[in-house]
Amino acid sequence: MSDLIAQLEQLQVEAQAALMAAQTTPETETWYTDFLGRKGRLTAMLRGLGQLSKEERPLVGKRANEIKEALEAALAARQEAIAADEMQRTLAAEGIDVTLPGRRPQVGKLHPTNQAMREMVEILKQMGFQVFDSPEVETDAYNFELLNFPPDHPAREMQDTFFTTTPDVILRTHTSPGQLHAMRQYAPEPIRVILPGKCYRNEDVTARSEMMFYQIEGLAIGRNITFSDLKGTLLNFANQMYGEGRKIRFRKSYFPFTEPSVEFDVDCILCGGAGCRICKHTGWLEILGAGMVHPIVLKNGGYDPAVFSGFAFGMGIERQAMLKRGVDDIRLFYSNDVRFLARV
Ligand code: PHE
Repeated sequence: MSDLIAQLEQLQVEAQAALMAAQTTPETETWYTDFLGRKGRLTAMLRGLGQLSKEERPLVGKRANEIKEALEAALAARQEAIAADEMQRTLAAEGIDVTLPGRRPQVGKLHPTNQAMREMVEILKQMGFQVFDSPEVETDAYNFELLNFPPDHPAREMQDTFFTTTPDVILRTHTSPGQLHAMRQYAPEPIRVILPGKCYRNEDVTARSEMMFYQIEGLAIGRNITFSDLKGTLLNFANQMYGEGRKIRFRKSYFPFTEPSVEFDVDCILCGGAGCRICKHTGWLEILGAGMVHPIVLKNGGYDPAVFSGFAFGMGIERQAMLKRGVDDIRLFYSNDVRFLARV
């Protein structure tokens, strides 16, 4: 009898050692099969107890059960330890350090063109101008003819205009065709509208010109509107956009749809007129083109030029953003470089 108990205890020692040697969950499962499973070594010994005498059986049986329970408990503990260990290893391998500080989310902002456009629209709205939407895809008539472009005007050529496969349908080269849309919608009522939007020109892309860019057009039509109304409007705009006390100047120019036509300059916001890189050492920044609406255009829009007069102006939005923020290459606006977009 004591012999049998000694054998059981010997097996227990052996099983304990084997269990400690198991390093993975599958290894503990194999261990279970070897010792405690249906064909395991302990199970085999328990079966042998049937041959013992009545006196011996309860004693040895009790001891055998104790050993079985002890081994089962040891297995559960070992499996738990291995699971915890495997979790540790996985976390280490994935490199999760829960003590690291969080990452700041990147917050978006308005595109520099939109920033400038909204600023300009706000300034002009205060002066009574209302935003009028007009299409980017235009007919030759609206983009040129109704604006008094002669048929052979160089702006109508292939080098400047993007044509479509539909005859007479083009991408607008400026926001001025919107003047006609607004006039034809409201004539003979007086109007004060601004037309912001995209324009397209089939030009070489350089630091100064993109083939897609934004303009904002202004148009005021009424009785007794004079050039001094244009001057007051633009001076007010310049002071709000570029700072109070701006010096301004007009230079004579030519546009088919205005008469007289001018270019409008403000004194350089960087050097104050002394001459620098931004103003190309002239002391002046060229801001926009403008003029009094040509009588033919008034007539095409549905206004009697004997009764009505008006002024119009048009400017590039990126150009204003560039001047204000000291950007010297227009290509940066649409090349999706987030370092530029985040900075400006
Ligand atoms: N459409 C002109 C341009 O693109 C600008 C302009 C608008 C000039 C209105 C005069 C009046 O250059």
